[in-house]
Order: sequence, then C-alpha cells, then structure tokens
Amino acid sequence: MRAQVAIIGGGPSGLLLAQLLMAQGIDAVVLECQTKEHVLSRIRAGVLEQGLVEIMRNLGVADRLDTEGMIHNGTVLSYDNDQVRLDFTEHAGKPVIVYGQTEVTRDLYDLREQTSGQTFFECEEVHPQDLKSDAPFVTFRQYGKDFRLECDYVAGCDGFHGVSRQCIPENVRTEYEKIYPFGWLGVLSETPPAHHELIYSNSARGFALCSQRNSNLSRYYIQCDLTDSVDQWSDEAFWDELKRRIPEEVADTMVTGPSVEKSIAPLRSFVCEPMQWGRMFLCGDAAHIVPPTGAKGLNSAAADVHYLSEGLINHYNNNDSRGLEGYSQKALERMWKTERFSWWMTNLLHRFPDQSTFDQKMQRAELEFLAENQLAVAVLAQNYVGLPY
Ligand code: APR
Ligand code: PHB
Repeated sequence: MRAQVAIIGGGPSGLLLAQLLMAQGIDAVVLECQTKEHVLSRIRAGVLEQGLVEIMRNLGVADRLDTEGMIHNGTVLSYDNDQVRLDFTEHAGKPVIVYGQTEVTRDLYDLREQTSGQTFFECEEVHPQDLKSDAPFVTFRQYGKDFRLECDYVAGCDGFHGVSRQCIPENVRTEYEKIYPFGWLGVLSETPPAHHELIYSNSARGFALCSQRNSNLSRYYIQCDLTDSVDQWSDEAFWDELKRRIPEEVADTMVTGPSVEKSIAPLRSFVCEPMQWGRMFLCGDAAHIVPPTGAKGLNSAAADVHYLSEGLINHYNNNDSRGLEGYSQKALERMWKTERFSWWMTNLLHRFPDQSTFDQKMQRAELEFLAENQLAVAVLAQNYVGLPY
C-alpha cells in the first residue's frame, strides 16, 4: 500500500491535515487506533479561533459551524466580588466562536467520508519506520491482518500518548514540561448557559469556569485536587461548589440539572523540540500540551496543521521544500507564545496549594490592572482570539 503522506492519528489534527492535503490533490491515509465512535465520544473544549474557522470554511465544511457556532465578542473575568468584561472585538478586531471541538471532528469525519478519504480504524502496533531514509513506511495490524504503508512523509498526529514523538531519538529530543498541582473537574449538563458569555472566575475557593455549547447545553469546570475522583463529586456537591466560586447574581439565577458527563483532567504544559525528524513531522498534542485555561489545545494544533499543509503543498505542487524544512522552527515559535499565554492565564486564575498571601495580592493586582488598563486588555484579547499564523 502506498500514500504520499501517512497520517498517524484520526483526531482533529490528523483529519484537518488529511483534508487540506486532499483538497490540493495530495493523497494521505489516516491510521487511527480507536473506533470512530470512540474518537467522537471524547468531550473537549469549545472555543475556536478565527484561524481554525477559516480553515474549516476553506475546506467547505463550515455550514454547521456557521449556523450553530456562537460568536463571542468578549468574556468575563470574575475575582472576589469584582468582575471585568474583556471585549475581544474592540481590542483584537475579532471574536471567537463557541462550538464544541468534538463537533469539529464530527464535521471533518463527514467530509472525509464524502470525499472517500481512506481511514483505517482500530489499528494496532502502528510503527513508523526508516524515517531518516527517502522511503519511510508505517507498519500496522488491523483485525489480525498486517499492513505496510509506504509513503514520502509521516505526520505524527497521534496525541500526547502516541508513538510518533517516541520515534525521535532521545539524544535529539528535548521535552519541556510543567505539571500543575490541581485538576479541572468538568460537568456537561442539558441546561441553558448561566451567562451569555464565558465567565472565568478566580475565587478564594479556587478557579471556576462557566462555558457553554448551545442554548441548552452548558459546560462548567471547577479546580479540584489531583487526588479527587469523579465518584467523590455528586452533582449536588458540584453545583454547590461551583455556585460558591462564581458571581452571586449568576449563581442565584443559574439553572442546574443532572450531569450528562463528568470527568477530571490534570493540567500540564508540555513542548517537544524539535517537531520534525527526518521525514516525520509532529502536529498538535503529539508535540505539545497546554493547560485548558484559554482553550488553546485544538487551536494550536490547527496552526501546526496550517504550517505543515502549506509546506507539503509547496513541496508537491510548487517544488519548493523550504516550508517543510522550516516547519519545526515556525511551529515552535508560535507555540511557545501560546504556551506562555495558557501558563499565564492558569497562574492568574487558580489557587496554588503553596500560594502565599503575597502571591494572592499579586493576582489581585494583576486583575485590577486589567480592569483599568486598556493596553493590558488588548494583550489578553490578542492572545485569546489567537496569534496570526
Ligand atoms: N496509532 C494510531 N492512532 C493513535 C495512536 C497510535 N499509536 N495513538 C493515539 N492515536 C490516536 C488517538 O486515538 C486520537 O484519536 O490519535 C488521535 C490523537 O487525537 P487528539 O488526542 O485529539 O490530538 P490532536 O488531534 O492533536 O488534537 C489536538 O484538539 O480536541 C483537542 O484536546 C484536543 O488538545 C487536543 C487538540
Ligand atoms: C470549554 O467550553 O470546554 C472550555 C472553554 C474555555 C476554556 C476551556 C474549556 O478555557
């Protein structure tokens, strides 16, 4: 079997890349280790930067996103009894779109099927090989049968726990990591959103976030201990704790209901350098992780995919390989800025176990500065809506 590009991982990164290449006549095969149903059952964040929305539009797959996605021109930061509303459109010239990332993946799978793109699900023992040679290949097993996929290039889009990153020898690879001393307990409920915009809250009891998916589907998070388990948190305990961390007038009027999903996620910052080795390129979570504060996970993956697809298209269609050669450097330059923003927002809004009263005063001073300084708001807004590609 042969393809120009072998894509490992059928999450949003792999699918976006596959479809961008296909639109330019470059054939890519996607190898996914799970079933499609499993991939589409994962609940992820729901804030899209304009860059990703434009990619979806260019692919002709944004009809549902354009009708169901909600334009958010700003957000609210709440701290103690104070609040500041940050206007993205005023300060950064564009809004963000609230639309579930799982829905992005669903739309991309629908497109992949319409365009007859080849995807192998439930692949086992996926091994990229000979990545330093001119003829790399990927071996895998599906339903007991062994396959060998020959290709020109391999795209490692297989997430944080995938095999691709591990193919870069340890003496070449540097990994930068920060683990935060708390997690996020998230609840999805079929209730109207508590507020028309997202509310990020720094409270004495810890961080909370009110987010949403549509007019009758809400997503909420509270900072929790890393040792907490979902079973410890009844719906009632969750709602009680959330209400104590958000502005009183929002808590008083919010509609609660049974959770339809509840999970705990740890918070991590992680970057692997370089993002390419021989004929393999890493995209998305395979190369980097951000804490969810600011919702940059999928958006930063989309930037990688944009750079890599451009590099591959210029290589195949214009005989220009400079984009491919410079991929890692270009993607990392943008990524470190996104890491900085996610780290900064996490530090600004959470309670750390070892935080002193001085540290808390620093957080409060920074939030007050945001409330009164338009330049500070502009810096936040430009990062939140997404740095240019
Ligand atoms: N072989 C094949 N597929 C694999 C392998 C493997 N060895 N290991 C993992 N995968 C698959 C996973 O099952 C998953 O479907 O790769 C896919 C990776 O998808 P994500 O983890 O969603 O990563 P990515 O596509 O980079 O998404 C980037 O989008 O939805 C957000 O939170 C998500 O921040 C992430 C971002
Ligand atoms: C979400 O809607 O799940 C969400 C929104 C914003 C974030 C993180 C998660 O910063």
